[in-house]
Amino acid sequence: MAKDKTIYKCKECGFESPNWMGRCTNCDTWNSMVEMNSNNKSKKKINKSEPVSSPTPITQINTGQNSRYFSGINEFDRVLGGGTVKGSLVLLGGAPGIGKSTLILQVASLFSARYKRVLYVSGEESARQIKLRAERINSTSEDIYILAETDFSEVDQILSTNNEYGFVIMDSIQTIYHPEIDSTPGSITQVKGITNRLMKIAKKNEIPVFLIGHMTKSGKIAGPRVLEHLVDTVLRFDGDRNYSYRILRSVKNRFGSTNEIGVFDMDSNGLKEVKNPSQLFLEERPENSAGSIIVPVLEGSRTILVELQALVSSAAYSAPQRLTTGIDNKRVSMLLAVLEKKCGFNFYDSDIHLNITGGLSVEEPGIDLGIVTAILSSFQDKVLSSELAVVGEVGLAGEIRAINQIKKRINELKKLGFTEIIIPYGNKKSLGSEDLSDLIFVKDIHELIDILFN
Ligand code: TYD
Ligand code: MG
Repeated sequence: MAKDKTIYKCKECGFESPNWMGRCTNCDTWNSMVEMNSNNKSKKKINKSEPVSSPTPITQINTGQNSRYFSGINEFDRVLGGGTVKGSLVLLGGAPGIGKSTLILQVASLFSARYKRVLYVSGEESARQIKLRAERINSTSEDIYILAETDFSEVDQILSTNNEYGFVIMDSIQTIYHPEIDSTPGSITQVKGITNRLMKIAKKNEIPVFLIGHMTKSGKIAGPRVLEHLVDTVLRFDGDRNYSYRILRSVKNRFGSTNEIGVFDMDSNGLKEVKNPSQLFLEERPENSAGSIIVPVLEGSRTILVELQALVSSAAYSAPQRLTTGIDNKRVSMLLAVLEKKCGFNFYDSDIHLNITGGLSVEEPGIDLGIVTAILSSFQDKVLSSELAVVGEVGLAGEIRAINQIKKRINELKKLGFTEIIIPYGNKKSLGSEDLSDLIFVKDIHELIDILFN
């Protein structure tokens, strides 16, 4: 008989090692190694159930409209890639108190009205609390069934024997546990076991299943990271608790793009869609303030106008600080190097803070021209016109390069009343016979400086 062998497994990433370690060498988490029995591991098959799927000819696979549920909340449906795919397992993560339960309850209410019954399993709140919230946001419905339960075997039993539920919510994965799995709630074995089972239920019953998960301050789902690999879609609900708007984005999506964002406003009666986010993000723009500039950025299929703010001040320490929110720090360093080398500016004794207001983060290179403009505006203490917007990529030689989807960006700017729009010269020919009034074309950074600061 084979001898039982002890192995150690990381609770976070699942890494296995024959020796115990204080810190997992795979994911660098401290105190995450737990003892396991390697023989038990192979004997114990969690949730082995009858096969639920059989091969289907590709031509007979249904991809039509009916394979998705539409909540009617555009901002939600779009982020999921145009509705929620039936048979998909979706993880909705976010910081505690951000509004996950509120959002999912609103969606549940709309789904139950349009499609089938909803099962809302809550391990966090009592049925009464959920009812009070539903009343507050006007989302009570005959067809939302609440189960205040933390024991997953009960849920499994209900879903295996009852096919009436067309939508299932588990709030939250950190509180639900399976009694047959010998591990604490939220641990890797629990989460894996429950998620695998839910995935099978979703596929077999052809229903969407939503898992709610708490997120840590650093933006990671609390608990094991494997969770993100197991599910079909990962949504993140973000926002600053001091402001009322919230942003929903997809971090992973097997059924659509991950570029889309949905913007909501939390008021006393739940979440409302924000159809024109540009307006919202520009609402609090300071007047006559140096260092502020507007940039039209692409977020999935939409253009959103963001305000970029820079503050250049004399360095407090010998090593100057470069602090950014929403923009890649390396990109900023690169642009500063271009300004120093090509235009003769000196930033070695300046601290530089850069911030995209509204909590958005922008990765596309079109923001470059905005970064340069904001930094120079603050550095020279020159207030720019409130009707000015810029967009373009800056190369290492100081040249300004063309960007994609220029027409869309110009349209959004014009819609909101911007009359001085600086764009790359390289984009001129793609505009063809369009109306070129309000547009200023620049070839390199010297031209930009001439136009704005000389
Ligand atoms: P909740 O959905 O419970 O957050 P989560 O599930 O992410 O922990 O929302 C909690 C916060 O939202 C709470 O601070 C109260 C606020 N809120 C509103 O402002 N308006 C509302 O209509 C509701 C239901 C909640
Ligand atoms: Mg909640």
